[in-house]
Amino acid sequence: MRPILKGKGEKIAEEIIELRRQFHQHPELSGEEFDTSKKIQQKLSEYKISFTTGYAKTGVLGVIEGGRPGKTVALRADMDALPITEETNLSYESKVVGKMHACGHDAHVSMLLGAARILNETKNKLPGKVLLVFQPAEEITPIGGAEPMMEDRVFAEHTPDVIFAQHVWPDLPVGQIGVRPGPMMGASDRFKVEIEGSGGHASMPHQAVDAIIVANTVISNLQTIVSRNVNPVDATVLTIGKIEGGYRYNVVADKVTFEGTVRTFKNETKQMVKERFFSIVQGVSQSMGAKAKIEYFDGYPATINDEKWAHRVMRTSHELLGAQSTPLVEPCLGGEDFSRFLLKYPGAYFWLGSAIPGLEKQKPLHDPKFTLNEKAIPVGIELMAQVVVDTLFQLRDEEISENSNLLKKVVNHI
Ligand code: NI
Repeated sequence: MRPILKGKGEKIAEEIIELRRQFHQHPELSGEEFDTSKKIQQKLSEYKISFTTGYAKTGVLGVIEGGRPGKTVALRADMDALPITEETNLSYESKVVGKMHACGHDAHVSMLLGAARILNETKNKLPGKVLLVFQPAEEITPIGGAEPMMEDRVFAEHTPDVIFAQHVWPDLPVGQIGVRPGPMMGASDRFKVEIEGSGGHASMPHQAVDAIIVANTVISNLQTIVSRNVNPVDATVLTIGKIEGGYRYNVVADKVTFEGTVRTFKNETKQMVKERFFSIVQGVSQSMGAKAKIEYFDGYPATINDEKWAHRVMRTSHELLGAQSTPLVEPCLGGEDFSRFLLKYPGAYFWLGSAIPGLEKQKPLHDPKFTLNEKAIPVGIELMAQVVVDTLFQLRDEEISENSNLLKKVVNHI
């Protein structure tokens, strides 16, 4: 029988909210989550859940072995805070000036510990394994913590068949879940270009290579990537935000630099835009007798949910929170390090409604006044835990039906 965990989050809400407040008071920046990591390990020991640590320095992997054989499902929570001075006046405000959990990662860690606790209590009934992935350094794009954890072989012994993560979301009320198949969060790349021509007198342009004219032509052509190369229904942005060059009115500029950003929702679009970008900048510059130096910084890739696992989250949410709990949501262009896990393993990322009731305008994530509604915490605990249970049972059922189909084929063949 598949365990139903409805109500279990509420039972441990007080303990987990208290835990969240402790994390909130002691925020640690990306790559320095030493005390946070220690506290996570203490809690896992207290719950009698085995773990290993040292992935990307402070990362922790907890493992819950189910009582029956089956597949492996991972849950991920990010651990780091931001270099922001808190201005919320909450009783449990950050005790560290210049550091704040302004993105709710304190709640993510706490909810994962809560989910771990209730999953561990019901582990004998679980067909398979649960991995608890506590990930550092989510906020330092493009390095992040996901890739370094995988480089440190976090999944060498246990490989996830499916992975999930959730993020508190101030634009949705408590009890609502934002999830969709396909793009959830965008990719954000940055670039800097230096065009080098050769200078001269403004009255004798034929003796020079005017870097301003070259840059102007390059920039105009770059705008054709979005307007002519990208599918118009696939939202993409290419913006030049800064341009610098030249000396005075009667001198031909020898050098121009410009900087900008590319935002995309699909990884194949990101690759295509990047290729076109290089070919236009280099091709146009060369054809006009100039040289171009390009610095291109890949940010996090887009966070793309697998259709199957996004629907899994929806069905579980409908069962726990009602049929209206997953409104249609548009993807968000913010970056998310979880995307790197999703490039390697199937899964889904979802938003947990955490709006403060009565506020006309919610303070956004990364704002010094950002707060979250702690009523979201038991919801997040239950949803994560139930998604794991439902996924393990779904994978088991799929395996059984695959085996019986195979058996039928063999029987027919005989
Ligand atoms: Ni965040």
